[in-house]
Amino acid sequence: MKLLSIETSCDETAFACFEWTSGNEFMILSEQLNSQIDVHKEYGGVYPALAKREHTKNVYPLFIATLVEAQLLKERAEKISIPAELIGQIESILERDHENLERLKKFYETYEIPAVDAIAVTYGPGLEIALWTGFNFARALAVLLDAELVPTNHMEGHIYASLIENIQENQFRLVDPGYPYLSLLISGGHTELIVAEAEHEYTKIGQTLDDAVGEAYDKSARLLGIPYPGGPEISKLAEKYSESTEPLNLKIELPRPMIHSGDYNFSFSGLKTAVRKITEQHTDHSPEFKQALSFELEEAIAEVLIKKSKSAIDGYGPQSFVIGGGVSANSRLRKEFTDLCENQGLNLMLPDRKYTGDNAVMIGIAGYRRLINKKHDPTIDRVVGRLSLENPS
Ligand code: KG4
Ligand code: ZN
Repeated sequence: MKLLSIETSCDETAFACFEWTSGNEFMILSEQLNSQIDVHKEYGGVYPALAKREHTKNVYPLFIATLVEAQLLKERAEKISIPAELIGQIESILERDHENLERLKKFYETYEIPAVDAIAVTYGPGLEIALWTGFNFARALAVLLDAELVPTNHMEGHIYASLIENIQENQFRLVDPGYPYLSLLISGGHTELIVAEAEHEYTKIGQTLDDAVGEAYDKSARLLGIPYPGGPEISKLAEKYSESTEPLNLKIELPRPMIHSGDYNFSFSGLKTAVRKITEQHTDHSPEFKQALSFELEEAIAEVLIKKSKSAIDGYGPQSFVIGGGVSANSRLRKEFTDLCENQGLNLMLPDRKYTGDNAVMIGIAGYRRLINKKHDPTIDRVVGRLSLENPS
């Protein structure tokens, strides 16, 4: 069974194509990713209207590149006209995206229809204006290719990204995490502790009350003059500090927000405010100062995340601990989670670094599992910016 997946929830336009050989084994026939980081850099964050413009420009070329790599693109022996009935359907879906409407009409006339059985696409959570582009493109493709539409939750994708096991060259398998499992999702928009009682059945036990962890990294980085997204750079600076033989003789102390709150919620906006104060007090932003501040920021974030994760593990007795989202690329956090789970004798699932950030492979996996478990809703016709994991589909 061949499945195509599409992700446009934020600043990455991504496509993937799979051949599923069983319920949990697959090959990746193609994966394509176009990152807009350079476009958004000067704005210090993702600029929604620009994200939409870039997604609109990139979806079709990436779709074609995906088919080429998956060896699914073949020109028709003779051009045909697209049937009026199909035109009517895709015109109403793509009424606000003429560029891709025209491209898809030409596609139908020029190429043989690829044998794709299903199309998984992110319909939330994320920036609605960005989500719409990929979602409508997917809906129109589902009509043209006569494929099943599988609207997919981006955060569920981040969870599945951690379950990928590479068994041999281009042969992958999904690991069974056991139930219940605990998941910590840490990204640019989310910080959530989730308990999964069964596949696709989630209860959110805690979340951030304000900024997400990724935002704490990115906003602090910005105060230090580091361009978006600052998380990876802060992490490098912190590493330099721990390796330095002569650490800066300067005491920097940041709060550990909500560490003693007794629940599973988080708050990170206070950290950013504390970082702002310190950067204003110390006008000399020397490399040593930046390193010391980055180190303390990571200490504060790691302590809070570990403390809350540990209480959730004690409270729920999960079979495994699944970490997901862009911030899970962080080396310091990966080490802390590894140590925590070793001490607790708990199975830890961390995503391969390749799949920590947004990508379409994770969407294809979450979508496929929903499809075969009949837990998807092909009639969904709108994106949901604040979609929750507790939603049934
Ligand atoms: O999951 P993701 O790619 O996009 C969202 O769905 O939000 O996460 C992006 C976030 C950004 O805030 C970025 O700074 C952060 O992940 N990030 C990191 C690291 N790599 C990416 N944060 C800390 N350390 C890293 N190594
Ligand atoms: Zn994400």
